[in-house]
Amino acid sequence: MKFESDTFGKLYADEYDKLHNPGTTTASVNLIAELAGSSRLLELAIGTGRMALPLVEKGFELEGVEGSPDMVDKMRAKPGGADIPVLIADMADFEIGRSFEFAFLVFNTLFNLTSQAAQVQCFQSVARHLEPGGRFLVETFVPDLTRFDEYQALRTKHIGAGSVWLEAVEHDPVEQVFNFQRVRITDSGVRLAPLVMRYAWPQEIDLMAELAGLQLEARWGGWAREPFTADSKMHVSLYRKTED
Ligand SMILES: C[S@@+](CC[C@H](N)C(=O)[O-])C[C@H]1O[C@@H](n2cnc3c(N)ncnc32)[C@H](O)[C@@H]1O
Repeated sequence: MKFESDTFGKLYADEYDKLHNPGTTTASVNLIAELAGSSRLLELAIGTGRMALPLVEKGFELEGVEGSPDMVDKMRAKPGGADIPVLIADMADFEIGRSFEFAFLVFNTLFNLTSQAAQVQCFQSVARHLEPGGRFLVETFVPDLTRFDEYQALRTKHIGAGSVWLEAVEHDPVEQVFNFQRVRITDSGVRLAPLVMRYAWPQEIDLMAELAGLQLEARWGGWAREPFTADSKMHVSLYRKTED
């Protein structure tokens, strides 16, 4: 399946808030608020406003880029959501026409860009929108290849009295792509929810940043600034645009 910039929203906008809760929103909003100080914020892939709305409530000036009008419609329907400026565009290649002091892309969304070239281009687009010394925060999972057997994995995500949710994944190690099919079997039928993610290791992400003129400033293994170790399942990485 081909994932364009609006595919995610077409598939998930209706159920996003109900089904995609990472459980870290308060911690991530607090860390970004602390790091950003009084900066103007740019959120890539702003979605339904999970991060943006509480940040605006804290007093931040914030703009978003988002590929899916369906996701943005959900944000617009929430209190304060109609006032946040959003450019509907591919986050790999966008032009807002003004610069920011702090940008962020969270919840593994860098990996929604399904090629290395698109991810590299995304860093370049962000760097173009940052002021000298401006920062870019990225949160992604650390790929866990131990769960695959012959490049495939199947997991039970949920079992209820009248339902079972399964997640099947194919791993393409050449392109570093996970092809997901989430299968929800309930009394009323079967629902399929596909997703394609192109993963990158933290050091590859650092290189993408460096190519765009951004230097790694800090990396944590979680939103409470846990140390990043061999056992970390995710990372929060902060890059700074070099002052040239
Ligand atoms: C996992 S959601 C994250 C939304 C929000 N940032 C959050 O943390 O809740 C991924 C978001 O990325 C958007 N997206 C996916 N590919 C995109 C692209 N190429 N350009 C812009 N947005 C994209 C989707 O429409 C969706 O809103």
